[in-house]
Amino acid sequence: MRRRVCLLGATGTIGRATTRALIRRGYEVVCFTRAPTDSAKAQSRQADAGDLEGAIIKVVDVGDPVALARDGFTGEPFDAVVSCMASRTGTPRDAWAIDHRAHLTVLEAAQRAGVQHFVLLSAICVQKPRLAFQQAKLAFEAALIGSDLRYSIVRPTAFFKSLSGQIERVRQGRPFLIFGDGTLTACKPISDGDLADFLAGCLEDESRWNRILPIGGPGDAITPRQQGEALFALLGSPPKFRSAPVALLDIAIAGLGALGTIVPSLADKAELARIGRYYATESMLVIDPRTGLYDAAGTPSTGTQTLFDFYRSVVGGAAVPDRGDHAVF
Ligand SMILES: NC(=O)c1ccc[n+]([C@@H]2O[C@H](COP(=O)([O-])OP(=O)(O)OC[C@H]3O[C@@H](n4cnc5c(N)ncnc54)[C@H](OP(=O)(O)O)[C@@H]3O)[C@@H](O)[C@H]2O)c1
Repeated sequence: MRRRVCLLGATGTIGRATTRALIRRGYEVVCFTRAPTDSAKAQSRQADAGDLEGAIIKVVDVGDPVALARDGFTGEPFDAVVSCMASRTGTPRDAWAIDHRAHLTVLEAAQRAGVQHFVLLSAICVQKPRLAFQQAKLAFEAALIGSDLRYSIVRPTAFFKSLSGQIERVRQGRPFLIFGDGTLTACKPISDGDLADFLAGCLEDESRWNRILPIGGPGDAITPRQQGEALFALLGSPPKFRSAPVALLDIAIAGLGALGTIVPSLADKAELARIGRYYATESMLVIDPRTGLYDAAGTPSTGTQTLFDFYRSVVGGAAVPDRGDHAVF
């Protein structure tokens, strides 16, 4: 019998790639999606529908246990839940509602439905939790580990889309923006396809069961300066950087934080500035527990696609970065 997987977040970047990876491996994939919230979204959903070809799509309110049973699990057998679902905004309210509460509701419904295995897309940055969305993810990770389900918690490093925001400005002859000298942080970028394969592989590879799995892409860790240098080299122009001090973000956080006590929408902006500061100063690598330092060699790698291959295909017109609403991450 074909094994059935409930996939959450199938309309997102990694969710779409994971749908394809699961179908390629022969799973029957049932995507629990939400109804598009506006017509623009409905249109882009239509355009993306090809990515979900071969999957069964159900519209389900994943925050509602009754809807999950009635419209989602519907008494049918499911072997596993794979979740690529995440808050689109990263604001504290959204993060706690999606990354924590909705996941808890799905976990409980999955247990009632007899699901055996829960694969969760998390993030490597939860090892140093300073932001609301990281706390929300960690709280759900703890609930999943404490449940009686088999779990695989995948904590990837940076996605290609998050490192592609400056391709256009560099192509237009403008400088590549860095904080400090561009070597404050490093990461081992992972492609959507390689991460999707790793997530799907968790269902079969016993070494990934009941484990927290930090994971990066192939090759050495790279800094923002190296990303800029690679882009200029691909475009055949001399490297040109503009550096900003991290203190600029501190000023924005303090200002927006103070104004946010009066205007709530500015409190959300302050959180986005905190997220920006975090990524400007923290590496997306495993932290060595003995030294407390980021450890590139200790960060596992998977897959074959490198960020610089991806830059090459964007510059050559063969690929377009999917920046999406989540660009800030
Ligand atoms: N970007 C990075 O470099 C990076 C690195 C490591 C880890 N991560 C982690 O990876 C995850 C993001 O993955 P991604 O970029 O693939 O996400 P994404 O493209 O933003 O997709 C998010 C998915 O979650 C769904 N979703 C959001 N709110 C929902 C709700 N209320 N009800 C039902 N579904 C909902 C979205 O559905 P709709 O299409 O309906 O909105 C979409 O399918 C996050 O957990 C992030 O922390 C990111």
